[in-house]
Amino acid sequence: MSSDKPSTASPMANLSVGGKTIDMPVRSGTVGPDVIDVGRLYKETGCFNYDPGFTSTANCSSKITYIDGDAGMLLHRGYPIDQLAEQSNFLEVCFLLLNGELPNEPEYEEFQLAITRHTMLHEQMTRFYTGFRRDAHPMAVMCGVVGALSAFYHDSTDINDPEQRTIAARRLIAKMPTIAAMAYKYSVGQPFIYPRNDLDFSANFLQMCFAVPCAPYTVDPVIARALDRIFILHADHEQNASTSTVRLAGSSGANPFACIAAGIACLWGPAHGGANEAALNMLSEIGTVDRIPEYIKKAKDKTSGFRLMGFGHRVYKNYDPRAKVMQKTCHEVLDALGIRNEPLLQVAMELERIALEDDYFVEKKLYPNIDFYSGITLRAIGFPVEMFTVLFAVARTVGWVAQWKEMIEDPEQRIGRPRQLYIGAPVRDYVPRGQRG
Ligand code: CMC
Repeated sequence: MSSDKPSTASPMANLSVGGKTIDMPVRSGTVGPDVIDVGRLYKETGCFNYDPGFTSTANCSSKITYIDGDAGMLLHRGYPIDQLAEQSNFLEVCFLLLNGELPNEPEYEEFQLAITRHTMLHEQMTRFYTGFRRDAHPMAVMCGVVGALSAFYHDSTDINDPEQRTIAARRLIAKMPTIAAMAYKYSVGQPFIYPRNDLDFSANFLQMCFAVPCAPYTVDPVIARALDRIFILHADHEQNASTSTVRLAGSSGANPFACIAAGIACLWGPAHGGANEAALNMLSEIGTVDRIPEYIKKAKDKTSGFRLMGFGHRVYKNYDPRAKVMQKTCHEVLDALGIRNEPLLQVAMELERIALEDDYFVEKKLYPNIDFYSGITLRAIGFPVEMFTVLFAVARTVGWVAQWKEMIEDPEQRIGRPRQLYIGAPVRDYVPRGQRG
């Protein structure tokens, strides 16, 4: 895929290896760092590029999301995240991520209808849930049920058919909230609540999670709007671990449902999507403001194995722009619910204040990330901690799908196949068991 600004073979980067110098093209994007195209490195020098954790490696070109970690900037298709969070809604952002432009009125109407018409799950799928233990983590359920979508929707698994790719994308965005809400209902022993197509995306999700058949349920519009904003904040985030997982899985030609299930599995880890759960647990463990110094000390002690959850980011070396909106949303939700003096919010705000003045965190440029305030907000809305990462997955599905589609449509796309620095035993002969020492 080419960038808007034409790729150029000039300037070149030079690398000398074993007395041989090779030239490698430097390619420029529209904004952000240039990349050195090392694609011919092995062919010309016999060496691989070594970069565990991909700290200096671009795996693809993309037009979807741009992050300037030093400036604390996040753009979707060029639009700043705070503008989208304040002025747009989640479905409009989904359209933007998938299609590259904000929808006009008829486009939005069509998209909204398409999503609301695909919210129901095949009825047979509901029986999957009973196969899980009652105390199963809802993320485990999500991995299983989303992967199983490919067993039900055969008419949207041909990745070479653009029409089927679009149907799969829309199905995933539409059905993910239903799957997530059912995982929740199963875990609390309540009957599944069917989607309501007259409600918007976030209001419908709230009613599927919190309504019960025996009583009327009214969605609080302030909470629905807050949840919608939380979904926008999580919608995409460039080539993060789960998105890269989706791209890598998809690079083999695997169907989109299987690829998104792989993304969900990756998201579950505490260094990624599981951090909001971990952050809330940490705030609860700290409990009171007077215990903060003890935890700050522990976070700075490398031997403790403890980190401040919800702090630090691989890319942001400044305040995570999503964290700012999330902090505001947190206050709005607590106000709307009449929760005054929430002790965990007090702990969070004081912890943030102390950490931002502490040399360790200042020098390492560790700032609150999106997960720092999201747990408090989601818990106030009524979600148990096990559901936090599930909500992240509901929102991130559009990012995964948009990135997956972009990859499939990219003429430069090849199967992802990293190499390694082998440090194991060199070649040796097999010795029969009886002759081994
Ligand atoms: N608390 C204490 N020290 C930290 C923290 C933290 N939260 N994060 C990083 N450090 C230190 C780390 O020990 C290292 O120190 P040194 O250079 O002396 O060895 C330095 O800062 C750089 O850390 P790193 O682990 O090399 O950085 P990374 O880019 O590999 O890790 C991270 C990024 C997000 C995994 C890490 O900051 C972390 O574990 N944070 C806590 C978990 C968390 O909040 N994750 C959510 C990320 S945002 C949501 C998402 O996008 O998925």
